[in-house]
Amino acid sequence: MDKTTTFPISLSGFEIEGLIEADAPRLMPLYQNCQDYVVLERGHPPDATVAIEEFQSFPPGRTEADKFVFGLKSGAGNLIGMLACDRNYPQEKSWWIALLMIDPAFRRHGAAKTLCDDFFSWLKTQGADRVELAVFAENEQGLRFWEGQGFEMVRTAGPVPIGTKQHRMEVLGRSL
Ligand SMILES: CC(C)(COP(=O)(O)OP(=O)(O)OC[C@H]1O[C@@H](n2cnc3c(N)ncnc32)[C@H](O)[C@@H]1OP(=O)(O)O)[C@@H](O)C(=O)NCCC(=O)NCCS
Repeated sequence: MDKTTTFPISLSGFEIEGLIEADAPRLMPLYQNCQDYVVLERGHPPDATVAIEEFQSFPPGRTEADKFVFGLKSGAGNLIGMLACDRNYPQEKSWWIALLMIDPAFRRHGAAKTLCDDFFSWLKTQGADRVELAVFAENEQGLRFWEGQGFEMVRTAGPVPIGTKQHRMEVLGRSL
């Protein structure tokens, strides 16, 4: 994680900011506004540690050296979206998307699609050739979104316990 790694975004009036753990409090309003997703994930509304946990959770065998949390920042300076990801997981040249989340007030206007398109273009310049992620099977909106971005089923996993929930996961992937 570092503040200097960012990528160009073609959403007028927005920019990508590299976030570090100290920025976690600035993400809390986004998590509060995304209660729908947090409740789906954990079975309860966001608590005080929800944002910092994103900076402290890594895939098996990985560390913060390969973790990147990008904030989508409006002209007013508010973080209205985020993209958390891990480099070279599950294998070299493949990146893992841990979370993509857009404030409900900004959804269904193509923000996530543009963010992904620009992120994937940047990933290619970094030598990556694949992206993978896991979606909760219960997250129909999320699944539909990723399928719309060309992701295909790799395997199913779980049940994975998170909060009060037990999640069946769908691991999806696509080439860049
Ligand atoms: C999934 C998520 C990131 C999508 O963000 P978004 O900014 O709404 O995404 P987009 O606007 O780019 O596309 C979403 C949908 O809006 C549609 N859309 C895009 N522009 C639109 C417009 N101008 N008018 C109406 N619909 C539009 C897209 O076709 C897409 O439809 P689909 O879901 O049926 O495929 C958002 O719903 C979210 O944050 N959900 C909670 C977290 C989550 O589930 N993340 C995914 C798992 S990691």
